[in-house]
Amino acid sequence: MTSLLERSASSAFAQSFGQAPSFLASAPSRVELLGNHTDYNGGLVLAAAIDRLTVVAGRPVEGQEGHAWSLNFAQADRFDLATLADNMGEPGSWSRYVKGVAWALQESLGRFSGGFEAAIAGDVPLGAGLSSSASLQASLALFLLTAGLAGEGKTWNLDDAARMDLAKVLKRSENEYVGVQSGLLDQFSVLFGRAKHALSLDCRNLAFERLPLGDPAPAIVVCDSKTSRRLADGMYNERHSECEQVVAYFRNLRGAGEVRWLRDVSLDDLESHWDRLDAKPRLRARHVLTENERVRRGAEFLKRGELAAFGRLMSASHASSRDDFENSSPALNALIESAESAPGFLGGKLSGAGWAGCTVNLVASAEADNFAEAVRREYANRTETVPEIHICHASDGASGHHLEA
Ligand code: GLA
Repeated sequence: MTSLLERSASSAFAQSFGQAPSFLASAPSRVELLGNHTDYNGGLVLAAAIDRLTVVAGRPVEGQEGHAWSLNFAQADRFDLATLADNMGEPGSWSRYVKGVAWALQESLGRFSGGFEAAIAGDVPLGAGLSSSASLQASLALFLLTAGLAGEGKTWNLDDAARMDLAKVLKRSENEYVGVQSGLLDQFSVLFGRAKHALSLDCRNLAFERLPLGDPAPAIVVCDSKTSRRLADGMYNERHSECEQVVAYFRNLRGAGEVRWLRDVSLDDLESHWDRLDAKPRLRARHVLTENERVRRGAEFLKRGELAAFGRLMSASHASSRDDFENSSPALNALIESAESAPGFLGGKLSGAGWAGCTVNLVASAEADNFAEAVRREYANRTETVPEIHICHASDGASGHHLEA
């Protein structure tokens, strides 16, 4: 069955390029359930892919040009696939992400066998902490791989090992082409998602697990504060370097072999050296290290089906973001406070980088509509802004397929 989004992408393709697409690919977005800013610190993450998607409809063409049309931005971009490193375009723009994927795939698999035309449609709220960017990256990559452009016509069997390789390629694209020093969380989540499951990832050794969320699985309710930011804005990289300051301190003490990541420092270490560390960096480090603990305990709770206990950890994570990592905002705090008394609430926190955008809440599935209504009312009372609320569910990872003629 084709979805509404697939139909929009296909008809946008037909309108822009004058024929029907031959391949369709799609990728979910993601929420981070626990493990905030732990990924680039070699830490632990618990996430879920959710059913807000990006869809790419396209076809391979002769030559070496990429030509993409974004339905959401009503913009086109056309570029030479051989000179991507010299023509990156505007930082943070959708087309920089598109070109970055083509660049990173070619860097790792060699020059594409031809060009492509693609139309992109999506229903992931943009700049809201749900990683619309990783969703865009993964859907485009799946299109390029399924269409046989990358890897000299190789047929891709995207098992977990190939998905992990692809996640790393897409991370490289974001780090080196887009210029955001993000970790692996987003790309991993949108590629490894599974319906009714959460995903745990150890970012130090890349061990992962898919953990059942139960049946019926709770709803994952995303509340959009209607405030937005862009990852490239600078705060993200600033936090990254504050964490690195603490790593550098312990590395000096113990040597690079012992301390590669913040993860290699224990909470006890941090406490014993507290007075010798700078005021902001030590708070950032405390957030990251207590988050790792919450992920560890959260995974155990999920394995035992203890969702209420899991939800309480999410709320503790939000408090730690608010107080120690300082990546929350008055709007995000008001949104979490509005959720606390709403029916079915199990726990909630800000989602992704923070500072603006969305909160993610775990909600008993039968109460999801009532929850949404109560939060809408309470947040509007407090802030005079009506939040946008998305009732989502854990969903499968990115995939692509050939369309019959
Ligand atoms: C953003 C980044 C992720 C991760 C989160 C915070 O979403 O893209 O890699 O660092 O922030 O946990």
